[in-house]
Amino acid sequence: MAIRPIRLFGDPILRTVADPVTDFDKQLRNLVKDLTETLRDAQGLGLAAPQIGVGLRVFAYAVGSERGYLVNPDLKFPDEEEQDGEEGCLSFPGVYFDVKRRLNTVARGFTDRGDPVQVVGTDVLARCLQHETDHLEGVLFIDRMDPATRKRAVRQIREADWAGPVRLSPHRITDRIF
Ligand code: NI
Repeated sequence: MAIRPIRLFGDPILRTVADPVTDFDKQLRNLVKDLTETLRDAQGLGLAAPQIGVGLRVFAYAVGSERGYLVNPDLKFPDEEEQDGEEGCLSFPGVYFDVKRRLNTVARGFTDRGDPVQVVGTDVLARCLQHETDHLEGVLFIDRMDPATRKRAVRQIREADWAGPVRLSPHRITDRIF
């Protein structure tokens, strides 16, 4: 187990579609532990494997008492309800802007032993599950902002000392809600 460095925006792995997990082995269990430990250390709400440099479909979440992880998550929306609110990302230090998301989500996935598991999320947890699933598609929260908000975010990112050039997602964004 280890706390791993978190990749920042500009790192190409954050724009790469992650591969499904096929081997539910010790290496996967170590990845889940590293994600969980790194997330706790960073005091974030969620952390996806690409953010620690691993291109696999795994993320960890910690929203209040709701804590866990999902392997190979599949996200569904049980209704059309939306929410608007502030969102951040550990790969964008200090950047917080409003992002419109679905209010309710059902995420199905697997444990690190390959057993099926389901996480039902609303409000902040639902936001987190959407944000982390996006990471596995190479989609980042700036891609989900409305154009005016994104403009402000991009300006702030360009001025940040950690940032490289700002590029929007090369991937098709499904379920666009703005
Ligand atoms: Ni993020």
